[in-house]
Amino acid sequence: MAKNMLQIARAAIDQMPPACRFTSRDGEVIRAHEQFLLALEPELITLFYDTLFGHPPTAEVFIDGERPAREQTLAGWWRRTAAGPLDDHYFAWMAEVGLAHVFRGVGNPMMLAMAELVATFVVKQARQAPLRPADSAALAEAFARLVSTVSAVITHGYDESLTSALSLARVRALTGPSAAGNRRTRREALNSRPETSV
Ligand code: HEM
Repeated sequence: MAKNMLQIARAAIDQMPPACRFTSRDGEVIRAHEQFLLALEPELITLFYDTLFGHPPTAEVFIDGERPAREQTLAGWWRRTAAGPLDDHYFAWMAEVGLAHVFRGVGNPMMLAMAELVATFVVKQARQAPLRPADSAALAEAFARLVSTVSAVITHGYDESLTSALSLARVRALTGPSAAGNRRTRREALNSRPETSV
């Protein structure tokens, strides 16, 4: 049975060593800097899309005139990230957002690179801001764990969608044309598959 977004998010997080995972304490640190993070929005969005549109393989993903709409969706993500709550629903939403990218041909290398760009931007801004060094370090760490956890969820969603697509393609190949008279059941097809050796 296909996994739902919450299951995908939890399965991804479970695979991460606990010390690397985003924690509720990280959520509190991010929330405590909500206003600081929200103020970064315009600069972050410009950096994000200038980077994507400045590189042909990522620029090609977009259709003409799409940038304003994409800037709005990223702003929505940023506001939710800054305000929280960064809970199960947030990570399930990230799994869904990851899949929306799969449908548009956005690969994991593109997603991971942009997640890293966001984390590096926040760390740099936090260092330059008039924050106490301990607060700046805590925010940088919390953000690094958030971005690795979001990346884990997105890449796991990608793996899951690929596995489902491959398994569907395999069943279709085994069951043959879908004309009612010719169709074998999934069980018959799987039972009669050729033996494979390792
Ligand atoms: C940290 C990485 C990224 C984040 C957080 C992010 C965030 C989002 C969000 C929240 C949406 C709205 C999804 C929805 O409506 O369900 C979206 C859509 C989209 N993003 Fe991203 N994005 C990221 C990376 C990228 C990259 C690397 C590309 C292209 C190279 C890209 C291209 C798009 C496109 C084309 C859509 C529209 C999808 C659709 O047709 O519904 N994004 N993104």
